[in-house]
Amino acid sequence: MFDPKVIRRDFPIFERKIDGYPLVYFDSAATSLKPIQVIKAVDDYMMRFSGNVHRAVHTLSYEATEKYIESHQKVSSYISAGSWREIIFTKNATEAVNLLAYSLGLHLISKGDRIITTVMEHHSNIVPWQFVARYKGSELLFVDINEDGTLKEDQLFEYINSRTKILTITGASNVTGYMPNIKKIVRDAKRIKPDILVIVDCAQLLPHRRINVQEIGCDFIFASGHKMLGPPGTGFLWGKKEILETIQPFMYGGDMISKVSLEGADWNELPFKFEAGTPNIAGGIGLGAAIDYLTFIDEECLIEHEQKLLSITFEELKKINKVRLYVEPSGDNFVGIISFNVEGVHPHDIADFLNRYGIAVRSGHHCAQPLMNRLKIENSVRISFYIYNTEDEITHFLEVLKKAISIFS
Ligand SMILES: Cc1ncc(COP(=O)(O)O)c(C=O)c1O
Repeated sequence: MFDPKVIRRDFPIFERKIDGYPLVYFDSAATSLKPIQVIKAVDDYMMRFSGNVHRAVHTLSYEATEKYIESHQKVSSYISAGSWREIIFTKNATEAVNLLAYSLGLHLISKGDRIITTVMEHHSNIVPWQFVARYKGSELLFVDINEDGTLKEDQLFEYINSRTKILTITGASNVTGYMPNIKKIVRDAKRIKPDILVIVDCAQLLPHRRINVQEIGCDFIFASGHKMLGPPGTGFLWGKKEILETIQPFMYGGDMISKVSLEGADWNELPFKFEAGTPNIAGGIGLGAAIDYLTFIDEECLIEHEQKLLSITFEELKKINKVRLYVEPSGDNFVGIISFNVEGVHPHDIADFLNRYGIAVRSGHHCAQPLMNRLKIENSVRISFYIYNTEDEITHFLEVLKKAISIFS
């Protein structure tokens, strides 16, 4: 049975008080809290086998390497990749998409080619492609959203022409929580142009939905390990082996080579070709423990739990005078994220007020300024839910929010 109250016992941070109040953490879309199992896995590496990976025959290095590779294997089976060698560990989702921009974008894209993305993207899935488009003289097109926050899919398909090389799209918006129908989009995009490469930003999707990359049919996904219970400094890229084998490395140096001479170098096998230098070993091992934890959770119960929190909160927020909501999370294609504003009050002031009562929310543009512009706002308050949040926390949040509104007005 899925019970957030039981799950919370695995998160030592809930023992903490913020100014005397129990912690209410509604900022998991920025980074999730970490269960004791992940903390222990990191600690175990530090305490017992903190050698470097790949390099030595001694026990510490051997054990570290085993565990580090095992984590790649766990991520691989979590997303149903073809092999653990298709999993490249990075320090976050941003590094993973930059890897693609440099290693794939700069080599694949020519002048006049087209890259398609959407206005819903986090900056990390916009700015690297702006760089590629400017550098290569290619077009970068943004698919718009409808008034209800859904994607204009027809526009997306209309944008695909004979010069379209890359479609890069988020699996879930970090501002509205909306999840486009990725499987259908990939299928239809590839029907129009079979060799289009489709990249899916799973930073917000993967913490909430288990995915099968084979079923989705895309070519790459990237995600943040730290948003799915993993340690900070973790993320990963998955790509099809046959493509990863043909594209250029991203960073050059130690570990990513098989042979070096004064004349040049040969690249190491996957995934090490893309993991230059000493990686975040402790983080990678912790990410493996996070995947174990998520694997243990019943996905259907998790979805039901989050949908409940989402609908209770949204309905209650709707009743509060002065609260402005933007996208209604109707149906089951939204992850647990709500953005809102309070008329006449800056979102930072609301966030600061909530913090005084132990409630952690995010305020600002959420690194999605094009989407904020599209919603005709500059900033918002964002609350985001995860496995450990409860209805009691929502009650506390609503009370404090009402208090804030009455004081500020
Ligand atoms: C949808 C989305 N993509 C990418 C990122 C970037 O993630 P990271 O901070 O791990 O680089 C974020 C971060 O919030 C996000 O929400």
